[in-house]
Amino acid sequence: MFSRIARPALFLSRSFSTSAQKDAKVAVLGASGGIGQPLSLLLKNSPLVSQLSLYDIAHTPGVAADLSHIETRAHVTGYIGPEQLGDALKGCEVVVIPAGVPRKPGMTRDDLFNTNATIVANLSDACARHCPEAMICIISNPVNSTIPITSEVFKKHGVYNPNRIFGVTTLDIVRANTFVADLKGLDPARVNVPVVGGHAGKTIIPLISQCTPKVEFPQDALEALTNRIQEAGTEVVKAKAGAGSATLSMAYAGARFVFSLLDAMNGKEGVVECSFVRSEETESPYFSTPLLLGKNGIEKNLGLGKLSPFEEKLVGEAMSELKGSIKKGEEFAKKVN
Ligand SMILES: NC(=O)c1ccc[n+]([C@@H]2O[C@H](COP(=O)([O-])OP(=O)(O)OC[C@H]3O[C@@H](n4cnc5c(N)ncnc54)[C@H](O)[C@@H]3O)[C@@H](O)[C@H]2O)c1
Repeated sequence: MFSRIARPALFLSRSFSTSAQKDAKVAVLGASGGIGQPLSLLLKNSPLVSQLSLYDIAHTPGVAADLSHIETRAHVTGYIGPEQLGDALKGCEVVVIPAGVPRKPGMTRDDLFNTNATIVANLSDACARHCPEAMICIISNPVNSTIPITSEVFKKHGVYNPNRIFGVTTLDIVRANTFVADLKGLDPARVNVPVVGGHAGKTIIPLISQCTPKVEFPQDALEALTNRIQEAGTEVVKAKAGAGSATLSMAYAGARFVFSLLDAMNGKEGVVECSFVRSEETESPYFSTPLLLGKNGIEKNLGLGKLSPFEEKLVGEAMSELKGSIKKGEEFAKKVN
């Protein structure tokens, strides 16, 4: 048994949670799902969270009762069904949304659009009504379309702040760090690969030339590595053989992003994460680049930095797909609510 005096250091050691303890209410929408449950567990395990609000259309009373027995400070409450959604959101500083259907083998993220676009539009509408100032972190795919949908919904309510709406692409960075570390025999916790663009296939653009520590690969190995990072989600979908997409690694990545956000909101300086956001860095109106986070969300977009010719070509090739997915999201949002 763990001793209550000498509890093991929180196992989330990478860059997690070093700011002073403050109160923060965090909601997870889709909390009973494959991502939602382990993500809620990681959030419950953090001293940065004082209230954890778990919402889903199924099973949240059980998930909340289970998590509420864990000996950490976050007070857990479960909410079920649309009539309880407003209560789940009131007073939230951060809302994380992994609600929606995941891919099955042979599906692209865009194949999820019809189902998930409606779910994200409805949940965003509730956020705009009940916690318009909250940081909104969207995990639901296709992220390249769901962020424009959320942004349009917030605009309709007159509460849009582009510095507070984030498409969670952290899993692409986590994967890139792991794969580079494996190939180079490095400690993955000390590798940092920025990943820019979007979150689907060739719109996922790892900037290996900007990796810290510096790493070099022959062109064929670089192309194979880039392709593996772009298709890593599909690797998991195939291995799960119909049982869904990445859930555990996504929960880790989602928790990493939320903890970075909370650290920055609590005043920690120098917190940087990549995320798919409203952007003027390229011709695409939404684009992921490294962002300096602060008390009010995005403090500064750090931009693309210096790209290699190979990376420049990848950015160029991603543009038409990115712009198409963004437009599809914006047009959908015009028709709903
Ligand atoms: N951003 C990323 O890197 C990334 C990675 C993996 C998966 N995803 C996406 O995350 C989403 C969730 O994946 P999962 O594996 O957890 O799926 P899942 O099916 O296991 O869980 C989804 C949950 O959402 C709930 N839900 C459905 N409609 C809802 C609504 N209207 N309101 C609230 N909750 C609702 C379901 O009841 C379920 O509990 C999918 O869209 C998937 O594609 C994103």
